[in-house]
Amino acid sequence: MNTHELLKKIEQESLSLVWWKDEQKARGEDVVNDPKKGERPWIIPETTGQFLHDVILKNNFSSALELGTSIGYSTIWIADALSQNNGNVHTIEHSLNKIPVAKKYFQESGFEKIITLHEGNILAILEQFPSDLTFDFVFMDADRGHYHEYFPLIKKHLREGAIIIADNAGNMNTRMQPFFDLLQQEGVAFEILNMDNGLLITGGYRSGGTS
Ligand SMILES: C[S@@+](CC[C@H](N)C(=O)[O-])C[C@H]1O[C@@H](n2cnc3c(N)ncnc32)[C@H](O)[C@@H]1O
Repeated sequence: MNTHELLKKIEQESLSLVWWKDEQKARGEDVVNDPKKGERPWIIPETTGQFLHDVILKNNFSSALELGTSIGYSTIWIADALSQNNGNVHTIEHSLNKIPVAKKYFQESGFEKIITLHEGNILAILEQFPSDLTFDFVFMDADRGHYHEYFPLIKKHLREGAIIIADNAGNMNTRMQPFFDLLQQEGVAFEILNMDNGLLITGGYRSGGTS
């Protein structure tokens, strides 16, 4: 199966993946199966995946960080682009339900050697990153209200010219406002693209403060 076929398969399978807590089952929520309840993969739209892929190739990036792996759909988009530049991706996920599914898809993708899956909480993992680990591309797709806490830890690992993309900057903009404010304070230029859920994209990072 090639990458395109695998991505299509993940899109399909993601529709029926849902995990319920015992207390939710006790309330019969799994039977009602409200699409807003239960733990679901919440993967990016295909067009967003294609956009991430294009940005990586256009800028010749080779080292990526992803916050929020879920079942690995976006990671595989990113890894597919990076594989063409001899690159690699570090991705972070804490869900014990989703991690095994992501690992299975990484094996199927053939990109498992260039994907490092960090299992645990984003803040704790970022705090332990070795200082020589650097990135030219960051994709944020996790707990939106905390990106302003993650950015100070991430910026130490950014290469000159690195680009950050964050999903849901349109439909969850209120939660992300502290992150927008921080980028502005730090002189990191960004815009919010009106595609899919609204994609925040920064200019190339400059350690001096302007981008
Ligand atoms: C929207 S999903 C990611 C979807 C994935 N990027 C994709 O498109 O295939 C967000 C993920 O972030 C994870 N997450 C949220 N907060 C986290 C945290 N503090 N530490 C680790 N993972 C977190 C959730 O468990 C969830 O799987």
